Amino acid sequence: MNCIDIIEKIESEHSASKEEYAFLLKNISAGERELLRKKAQKTALNVFGNKVFIRGLIEISSVCKNDCRYCGIRKSNRNAVRYRLTKEQILECCKNGYGLGFRTFVLQGGEDGYFTDEVMTDIVSTVRKEYPDCAITLSLGERGYQSFKKLFEAGANRYLLRHETADMEHYNKLHPNEMSFERRRQSLFWLKEIGYQTGAGFMVGSPYQTFETLAEDLIFIKELNPEMCGIGPFIPHKDTEYRNYPSGSLELTLTLLSIIRLLKPDILLPATTALGTVDAKGREMGILHGANVVMPNLSPAEHRADYSLYDNKICTGDEAAECIKCLSGRMKSIGYQIVTDRGDYCPNERKQKDV
Ligand code: 5AD
Ligand code: FES
Repeated sequence: MNCIDIIEKIESEHSASKEEYAFLLKNISAGERELLRKKAQKTALNVFGNKVFIRGLIEISSVCKNDCRYCGIRKSNRNAVRYRLTKEQILECCKNGYGLGFRTFVLQGGEDGYFTDEVMTDIVSTVRKEYPDCAITLSLGERGYQSFKKLFEAGANRYLLRHETADMEHYNKLHPNEMSFERRRQSLFWLKEIGYQTGAGFMVGSPYQTFETLAEDLIFIKELNPEMCGIGPFIPHKDTEYRNYPSGSLELTLTLLSIIRLLKPDILLPATTALGTVDAKGREMGILHGANVVMPNLSPAEHRADYSLYDNKICTGDEAAECIKCLSGRMKSIGYQIVTDRGDYCPNERKQKDV
């Protein structure tokens, strides 16, 4: 077994074994990383051209009933400033975003009991009515089958729910006892079954992660077959027990982006804000390693800093308009272009714009 053989196998067969993934992640050299990067970039260029999709992220609530050990807005963090946006504020963000060219709105928040099915279906159906040409993505944690279904029927199209780790022991180290590994996985399969374009994902370099647990993440991605996959480095938050753990590595995150691109050539793969936080050029590098989505922040400027999952998050002081200008410039600087279509998942490697 050597790394080049494994990279070529992933490219041609779109899969590998757990041992092969772990071996590759452990042993890949700088030269092999570059080979992998080139293959991933080429694959993304074949499917999407030099186009990068944008998603307008609206952080609707910093209230959360969960206590994930790594997360800055965990329930027991008394220093976290809690806010929730009103329906009117959310619609205002959409209006602002629409004017800036966004055709996907991502409503993300902690698991906040205020946003019951009744409240949330009202918000989703209003956005659906006012913006019939836009995609609505939800990222609101676990909600149960019926709730997911109601929101889908109200007009939501996509749902982001990172699996966080595909290894049960690892999951239980990152989360309190009340949270269930099985339920998280079950939720993801429900979302797919209901018809959402579904996004899984995980942090790179989270405490207790190993090359073996990362290999399991790759196998899980293959098994679930999600339309989207959000991965970014773990970054410590000062008010969590993991405050002294190091951030996940830029290089390893980029390597995983490239592997995922080869595993699923048509997957929607963001260069995340966390990646832009660990390195000033992180998002540009993400795109050059096979990512094809960026998610600028559309949240009201006065609440940005309070949606603090990890320390030193970028873009917390910028208006959405500045962010999009900055990102277009960044993408241009590497030969890519931001596009304003919905950017739906589109199987069989057809070009997105053919739909
Ligand atoms: N560092 C990086 N990512 C984090 N997330 C939560 N806390 C952190 C952190 N400290 C990620 C989780 C979650 C997503 C919304 O943000 O993967 O699913
Ligand atoms: Fe937000 Fe650059 S992307 S300021």
